[in-house]
Amino acid sequence: MRLKDKTAVITGSANGIGLAAARKFVQEGCKVVMADYDEGKGAAEAKKLVEEGGDAVFYQVDIADRESVNSLAERVAQEFGGIDILVNNAGITRDGMMAKLSEEDFQRVLDVNLTGVFHCTQAFLPALLSSGKGKIINTASASGLFGNGGQTNYAASKAAVIGMTKTWAKEFGPKGINVNAVAPGVIETEMTAKIPDKVKAQMNSLIPLGKFGKPEDAANAYLFLASNESDYVNGIVLQVDGGIMM
Ligand code: NAI
Repeated sequence: MRLKDKTAVITGSANGIGLAAARKFVQEGCKVVMADYDEGKGAAEAKKLVEEGGDAVFYQVDIADRESVNSLAERVAQEFGGIDILVNNAGITRDGMMAKLSEEDFQRVLDVNLTGVFHCTQAFLPALLSSGKGKIINTASASGLFGNGGQTNYAASKAAVIGMTKTWAKEFGPKGINVNAVAPGVIETEMTAKIPDKVKAQMNSLIPLGKFGKPEDAANAYLFLASNESDYVNGIVLQVDGGIMM
């Protein structure tokens, strides 16, 4: 068991990559707090994991809202004390070409993908520090590393997440906390289900492995960065993209 007796908070774990990570983490002996905006799906998925023998709870949160995140952190502190792992996985897209991108769509993506990660990390820092040895995993994206047409807002938010990851690796490393990012390429989830088939075919042709990733592929990277196997890994951006951008 790679995460025995650890406690993790995974944001955005009602669906997609976060949900795959929650399942993997409980299978590795971790207590998992599934924190997501989507209460119906999140509560149902947490119940399923418990029925499968896992140790999981669901708490509702909007990571863009500081008060909501602070309430979550207080609840987690009361019920679990310290935590060992924070996975800042929740994220959204609101794509549009630059010429037509609305202020609202630009701002909402930054509010969730960038400010949300800032809120969660700040709120859970005391709980991570109290464990004396922690892991923070931030979810970036190939878009944040290389840009992507139609994703001004999203690419900006994910590039910023990479900047925060490297900064926190320097700030928190001396306090026993490793901070790393995972940059998925194209992973088959609700987020990518809305991409038109023609665009998907074009993207697929750029991937040397010739296929899109599964949520479990990204979740495996989270698991590595959450486990003791990555104890000497700090400040990296681990690409999980089949080699789409080399
Ligand atoms: P998804 O759409 O399947 O799941 C995202 C989850 O985040 C949902 O459960 C949603 O309810 C939750 N969420 C959204 N806004 C929230 C908020 N304000 N507060 C709390 N929870 C919120 O997405 P997916 O594909 O699993 O993405 C997970 C992460 O991976 C995201 O950060 C995404 O940007 C990133 N990513 C995904 C890629 C892909 O190809 N699927 C590629 C690169 C990065």
